[in-house]
Amino acid sequence: MAVLPIRTYPDPILVKPAKSVETFDENLAALIADMTETLTEAKGLGLAAVQVGADLRLLIYRVPEDQGGDGLVHALVNPRIVESEGKIVSENEGCLSVPEFRADVVRAERVCVEGLDGAGQPVSLDACGLTSVVLQHEMDHLEGVLFIDRLSRLKREMYRRRVRKQMKRASE
Ligand code: NI
Repeated sequence: MAVLPIRTYPDPILVKPAKSVETFDENLAALIADMTETLTEAKGLGLAAVQVGADLRLLIYRVPEDQGGDGLVHALVNPRIVESEGKIVSENEGCLSVPEFRADVVRAERVCVEGLDGAGQPVSLDACGLTSVVLQHEMDHLEGVLFIDRLSRLKREMYRRRVRKQMKRASE
């Protein structure tokens, strides 16, 4: 297992839809193991494969028990939202690919998700609260959508300007 480097905005892999997983083999298992180690090291709640440079519809998540989850790492492959209801404000949402920036994001309160696990077995989830938010955030990554895309234009531009400045400074 290895900790993988995390791609950050504006890396192009983060802004395009990912490809469906077709093969459940040892390579996929190794990628999930590496992503698990990477997520643990980064102390995150979720990680999509595109964030470590793998163009696949794969995500992992772990929601702590004291925040409504079961504390275990789960892999989800080719997931889709089959039902969603309600609205909540996900306060101070962040992303490992959008460092040093947090903002409130409006999300569905509850989602039902269907997909496959890391071994290719069907999974069906009914999630609310933080688990629902994490799933929506990670599934956005599979569509090339970042949480900054769900903010007002003004807030998004604030972040983009900051990144442009940092990149300019780094290249000087
Ligand atoms: Ni993210």
